[in-house]
Amino acid sequence: MRPVRLMKVFITRRIPPEGIAALSRAADCEVEQWDSDEPIPDKELERGLAGAHGLLCLLSDRVDKRLLDAAGANLKVISTMSVGVDHLALDEIKKRENARWLVITSICPHVHRSGYTPDVLTDTTAELAVSLLLTTCRRLPEAIEEVKNGGWTSWKPLWMCGYGLTQSTVGIIGLGRIGQAIARRLKPFGVQKFLYTGRQPRPEEAAEFQAEFVSVPQLAAQSDFIVVTCSLTPATRGLCNKDVFQKMKKTAVFVNISRGDVVNQDDLYQALASGQIAAAGLDVTTPEPLPTNHPLLTLKNCVILPHIGSATYRTRNTMSLLAANNLLAGLRGEPMPSELKL
Ligand code: GLV
Repeated sequence: MRPVRLMKVFITRRIPPEGIAALSRAADCEVEQWDSDEPIPDKELERGLAGAHGLLCLLSDRVDKRLLDAAGANLKVISTMSVGVDHLALDEIKKRENARWLVITSICPHVHRSGYTPDVLTDTTAELAVSLLLTTCRRLPEAIEEVKNGGWTSWKPLWMCGYGLTQSTVGIIGLGRIGQAIARRLKPFGVQKFLYTGRQPRPEEAAEFQAEFVSVPQLAAQSDFIVVTCSLTPATRGLCNKDVFQKMKKTAVFVNISRGDVVNQDDLYQALASGQIAAAGLDVTTPEPLPTNHPLLTLKNCVILPHIGSATYRTRNTMSLLAANNLLAGLRGEPMPSELKL
């Protein structure tokens, strides 16, 4: 029997059990892992990745030119346990894919492929987005605090009033898989109208919600609730800035579950502190984690969560298994269950 040539796989963190079990069962792989729940230091990552054929990483790992150079020529597959891919230097990965394709296409038809984990986290993330929206617009953290600190002195007609979804207009920035799943969940709350914006109209997807495609300024001006679900790209970086907040209604609630960098946080702070908009709910910030002395944390009308959109045991397990299966398929030159098309 010919000895199996082992491929080295490096995992940048402890991951949920199903993924690690799948990789451990792979007889053709030798798995090394940063065995911690905390991020791997840069130097350790460079050391661990040197000579590796496959990398399984998280959204908090920056895979840039320096790291790709440090990895060396063996590296064939990058598999991220996330739907977002803004932490991967896609232009660098693409360059390498093309360059190596020309050199070794006949012996190794699949070089430098990347996998990600869309779909499996859509429902869980939409559920979190709706929770965050309701938590923010009905001021739940403030109300809970008042119960604890003795601020609850009586039933008062205008105390702790917020804004509700019934008869509202909801604007969704990015009507992709997660945006649609959010709209589907919000509709039964009595939303009157859905607006959306994005690169281009998506009439088929929008039909389910009779959602109207509008420009960003139109969406800002007309919405009672804005939910940001688009991916972070050069076109969406800083998209939600003072121009957008200035156009929003004073009573509007802003929710971001995408990436912190889609929002200009200084502008958001000003809009919230000055009462230009009513409230914001953020599951994502810049940076992550947000320093505990950040000005946004001083505001009662800003609810901040620690990037937990996909955080259920089941979903994280499924993500880890999909990331492992992407990696294994890529290394073996087989079709990946979820390949990122560059
Ligand atoms: C979460 O933000 C993800 O990209 O999976």
